[in-house]
Amino acid sequence: MSEQRLRTNFIYHGDCREILPTFPDECVDLIVTSPPYADRRKNTYGGVPPEKYVEWFLPISAELKRVLKPTGSFILNIKERVVNGERGTYVIELVLEMRKQGWLWTEDYCWHKKNCYPGKWPNRFRDAWEHCYHFTKQKVFKMYQEAVMVPMGDWAEKRLKKLSQTDLVRDESRSKSGFGKRVANWLGREWVYPTNVLHLATEVSNKNHSAVFPLELPMWFIRLFTQEGDIVLDPFMGSGTTARAALKLGRQYVGIELCKEYVELANRTLQAIQPSLIAESQTSYTVPKRKRK
Ligand SMILES: C[S@@+](CC[C@H](N)C(=O)[O-])C[C@H]1O[C@@H](n2cnc3c(N)ncnc32)[C@H](O)[C@@H]1O
Repeated sequence: MSEQRLRTNFIYHGDCREILPTFPDECVDLIVTSPPYADRRKNTYGGVPPEKYVEWFLPISAELKRVLKPTGSFILNIKERVVNGERGTYVIELVLEMRKQGWLWTEDYCWHKKNCYPGKWPNRFRDAWEHCYHFTKQKVFKMYQEAVMVPMGDWAEKRLKKLSQTDLVRDESRSKSGFGKRVANWLGREWVYPTNVLHLATEVSNKNHSAVFPLELPMWFIRLFTQEGDIVLDPFMGSGTTARAALKLGRQYVGIELCKEYVELANRTLQAIQPSLIAESQTSYTVPKRKRK
């Protein structure tokens, strides 16, 4: 293989299975992505059959593991679809196979889609959430929890006004779950750590791509896992949401996208945010054809 290098603030046009091997080892700080879901959107950018999904994704996750720094994180936004009235198992199988590849399955954040369509199904309710799996390469990784703190909320004022005796000591759970809390610890606090559920509305304004995630989704993970100047990779860049999020937060982005029209769409949006930075990356890149042995 020729020299491996990485161009930042740039969207590579092509198949990530071919482009990722051209990147150097341990060169990105965070990966946030939403790959094509199994068999979805066959008519737009192709789909992978559910029974082939794990086999298709594993070489990609192996490359992602190689290019991620040891202290980095990988956020995989995905949801198993329903076939013949049953949820598919390929996402669960993928997680188990990725663990065998050496990834640590650190967390499963839940993206609650606040504005999902109402509907009626005979055997389930409307689907209002997706996984954001958090994989890491090691137990100690970069995480800036203070960057995603949330306001304490109005409820606290009333609850903390009159503290009982139990509120002043650590109150062990009455259900014997082993959890305990000291309510008085919250006194005087304005900001608290969030939960692992992100309540975000789906993107409805982007009519040019059929599977866009909300800008706040990559922004939340970028704040949590990176610092200014760090490099964020999205190997399934689509309309460029991850790149926009990275730019807005002063990080660098690297994208890969199979469809030329989406590369152009993303570049147009990015240019509007920061013309000088993007001007140079307007020409899309295609991996040079390798000679067959
Ligand atoms: C679910 S969409 C990503 C949407 C993106 N998160 C956004 O907000 O616009 C998946 C994208 O992956 C692209 N894609 C599919 N297979 C690919 C491959 N092998 N390499 C790179 N991109 C691919 C599709 O064209 C599609 O735009």
